[in-house]
Amino acid sequence: MEEKNRGNFSGSLGFILSAVGSAVGLGNLWGFPYKMGANGGFPFLIIYLVFVIFCGVVVMGLEMAIGRKTGKSPVLAMASLGSKYKFVGWLSVLCPIIISGFYSVLIGYSVRYTWGFLLEMVGGNGFDGMGGGDFFGAYTAEPMQVLLFTVITLAFCGLIVAGGISGGIEKFNKVGIPGLFVLLIVIIVYNFTLPGASQGLTYMFTSKGMAMAGTEFNFFNACRVAAGQMLFSCSLGMGIMITFGSYMDPKENISKNAWVIPAADTTAAIMAGLAIFPAVFAQGGTPNGGVGLLFITLHDTFTSMGSIGNVIGFLFYVLVIFAGVSSLISLMEVASAHFIDSNEAKGKPVSRKNAVLVMTLIIFVLSIPICLDMLGGGATSQLPLVSKIGCLVDTYDFFTEGIMMPLAAILMCLIVGWVKGPQWYEEEMEKHGNKIVGKAFFRISIKYITPILMTFVLISLALSYLGI
Ligand code: PFF
Repeated sequence: MEEKNRGNFSGSLGFILSAVGSAVGLGNLWGFPYKMGANGGFPFLIIYLVFVIFCGVVVMGLEMAIGRKTGKSPVLAMASLGSKYKFVGWLSVLCPIIISGFYSVLIGYSVRYTWGFLLEMVGGNGFDGMGGGDFFGAYTAEPMQVLLFTVITLAFCGLIVAGGISGGIEKFNKVGIPGLFVLLIVIIVYNFTLPGASQGLTYMFTSKGMAMAGTEFNFFNACRVAAGQMLFSCSLGMGIMITFGSYMDPKENISKNAWVIPAADTTAAIMAGLAIFPAVFAQGGTPNGGVGLLFITLHDTFTSMGSIGNVIGFLFYVLVIFAGVSSLISLMEVASAHFIDSNEAKGKPVSRKNAVLVMTLIIFVLSIPICLDMLGGGATSQLPLVSKIGCLVDTYDFFTEGIMMPLAAILMCLIVGWVKGPQWYEEEMEKHGNKIVGKAFFRISIKYITPILMTFVLISLALSYLGI
């Protein structure tokens, strides 16, 4: 996604798949199921869907319109709306850097699991003879091993971004994203054959599920978690879709894409839920397993399939890696591109390779405390602020998807909706005779519904932090 590569999407499908490739990642496969599991199941799903429609679709359309209209990366795009709005673009640059700090660790976990299933496939001992829960606990408690797989991940992604070969990843998305959906379907179908699996469906899709949750439902907490998760999952509130918009063909229908991409992303998240919750109940577990849910449950599912499970497990984690890598390189690209742009503006040009190296090192430094924290087992989780929020991953999450991303979304809506007025983005969305899908919906939401809901989310965050 370099400046010089602007407008290089091969067409409508190419654009949608690239945007879906960035959106579908560990947020869907790992984040959504564990957050749904920790927040009541069905009611969380409903709250999530409300946020997807009234905030996700709206902010997606808005960001793409800002990007395409200004043709710039986030900080410069916001500055061209008014120099005093530049700081909104800054929020967009900080978020990807912080997120990459834990995202790379999680992809590293998937690298370890891929390696484990590969060893099992050839008759080796990939998981030290342990089951899902034991292995995950043992692995995450060894920071040096976790760090090793994180370094492998970061080095790989750094090389891709430094080489500017994101085009290759776009091509990969055309095969990898459909491939991931197909494997998810295989796992879901297999799950349905397991005794007790229907409880997973009850948990996900009926109000009876609340009683099965194992934790108390807190409405305010569920709202802030669902909203943050939605922004994270759809890659919103951090400049990614502004950047994507700036590469978008003027003939493309922005509003249509603003519906299609969140719909595809949400489908992937629900499918991940269907791949996990029936298996959780079939294995006699509880859905509130926390951050390890994806790894523990599916590890046991694949093991229960016999030797074919090793092949499916291997393929599944390979696709998780690719879903994660295609997302991580867009995070790293935005951060590096900004570093290149800002240095150039200061008259101190920096080469792409050096910029990526600096960014990769910053992300690596941010990932070290995550590895040492051992998902709550380390000393960092005893720190006053961190212990109140959960573990260190939760803390990184809290500041990005909890505060900075909703704040950026609110500010973008207010600036465009109230200061610039609807004509500003409608003109862009209606280019080449395109019709706005839901014109009145966008108008009302940008001005009122989205900022109000997002403000409510920030208030919910404050209330849940205070334990209310
Ligand atoms: N949307 C990605 C996910 O759900 O995993 C996370 C992400 C990727 C956010 C890339 C932002 C981004 F640029």
